[in-house]
Amino acid sequence: MAHRKKRTFRISRILFLFVIAGGIAAAVFYGFRMIRTRNLRKEAVQASPSIEPTPSPSASIAPSYDPALFTDPDSLLLIANKSHRLPEGYEPSDLIDVNTIGGHGTIAPMMRKEAAEAEAEMTAAAFEDGIYLQFSSAYRSEEYQSELYWGYVASDGQEAADTYSSRPGYSDHQTGLAADFVENGSSDFTADFEHTESGKWLYEHAWEYGFVIRYPKGKDEITGYTFEPWHYRYIGKDWAAELHAVSPDETIEEYFGITGGIEYTDPISTPAS
Ligand code: DAL
Ligand code: ZN
Repeated sequence: MAHRKKRTFRISRILFLFVIAGGIAAAVFYGFRMIRTRNLRKEAVQASPSIEPTPSPSASIAPSYDPALFTDPDSLLLIANKSHRLPEGYEPSDLIDVNTIGGHGTIAPMMRKEAAEAEAEMTAAAFEDGIYLQFSSAYRSEEYQSELYWGYVASDGQEAADTYSSRPGYSDHQTGLAADFVENGSSDFTADFEHTESGKWLYEHAWEYGFVIRYPKGKDEITGYTFEPWHYRYIGKDWAAELHAVSPDETIEEYFGITGGIEYTDPISTPAS
């Protein structure tokens, strides 16, 4: 009797183990099948564009900007270069004399209000650091630029003049957002300005006030002009910080993907008679 009980117990133990093993095998089998099915579904979704939601263009292409940012005359990013002419006879509507708010302008000390205020703030900051920051030639009208440019053409020839002076209608100065800085009131614009106290201070700090070097060293083919360590352009603190984070020599053209270059895209202009 006891022997039979023992046998029955052994049989039920074996059966029990079979059931458990079968359960585990089934779980493993279905588990694998589920994973495989899920992967196949995933692959199918990836392979079939019709299952994917249609991507919006902005999600799949490199960041781009509204062109009005660079062509709207009120924009702080208004662009003037050899492939972007300013509107005929453009004159900013909010020019102020920077000298009346703390700037040290030697000649033509007018800038657009926001740029003028930033310039005055920068002048005060430089002064705290022992630098007497002076600028010469900020806003220039199309007419004044014409006088300058054709004067340079007369003395140096047009090919040379085009490497350092803008034709009327194409000058960064006409935006009212640019200023040429000078050392000790000098009006001598040479690459050596880079090594002066003002030149060094500006290169290090101008971006903190919203200004960027407009014609950096070695960027002639992009900006269209040779190195001008004295020429700074206001674009606002946020953009200046963005450009500076890329490089102190990042140009507006490079950062925003705007065309520039050495050649004018418009036909050659002649002096106004
Ligand atoms: N010197 C700069 C390029 C100008 O003439 O506007
Ligand atoms: Zn300049």
